[in-house]
Amino acid sequence: MNIIFLGPPGAGKGTQAQKICDALNIPQISTGDILRRAMKEGTETGLKAKSFIDAGQLVPDDVIIDIVKERLAMADCGNGYILDGFPRTVPQAEALDTFATIDTVIELDVADQVLVERLSGRRVCLKCGATYHLSMLNGETKCSKCGEELIQRDDDKAETVLNRLEVYHAQTAPLIGYYEKKGLLKKVDGAQGLDNTFAAIMKELGAKA
Ligand code: AP5
Ligand code: MG
Repeated sequence: MNIIFLGPPGAGKGTQAQKICDALNIPQISTGDILRRAMKEGTETGLKAKSFIDAGQLVPDDVIIDIVKERLAMADCGNGYILDGFPRTVPQAEALDTFATIDTVIELDVADQVLVERLSGRRVCLKCGATYHLSMLNGETKCSKCGEELIQRDDDKAETVLNRLEVYHAQTAPLIGYYEKKGLLKKVDGAQGLDNTFAAIMKELGAKA
């Protein structure tokens, strides 16, 4: 099944995508993770993306579309995938339509006030992409999956978070209507606990939790 996770920063796209991908044995394709890895490695794409990401703005469409097109052509995508963080603009969605067939779009719905609290307490592993919240770490500073030191993302600073929310409402939220019109959109309450959100998504996908 080819799935898109749509939702504002902090809605739980990455957290739930990891769990659902493990359950369905399909890859998670997070454009945010791909760009952060490129920045860490100092590649040309990483250098291009850095100023946009640090400002909470979107990376230009042509940069990101080429990355996703290449990634979806890889063998492990043959049995399906979850796109986490792509598409983010109508031109990206239109481009995706030319090289992929999407089965379902899960919209994770969470109020802005909750998102700000979630993002300010988030800690991530840049090596394996695992995501945590301070409230679940009990002082632990290393990734429980791979042992790497956890970090706070630069774009999780308060002022950048507000920019990202604005960008989401202006540029990405129109995709809700785009996929509603195609009959692909399924809305899930992302403000529930982790396990209930997971079960709700699995139900919408017609999979057993
Ligand atoms: P990206 O990395 O995709 O960031 P984002 O969309 O802003 O989303 P986040 O990763 O911040 O949130 P999430 O929904 O994954 O939440 P998470 O699961 O971590 O993109 C970063 C930047 O890259 C963009 O700003 C842009 O510059 C660029 N970019 C990426 N893709 C692009 C594209 N297609 N086009 C152009 N530019 C692009 O959860 C958040 C926190 O909440 C965690 O601490 C988690 O533990 C906690 N949490 C999650 N679920 C729950 C729950 N149910 N209850 C309580 N806490 C929860
Ligand atoms: Mg994410």
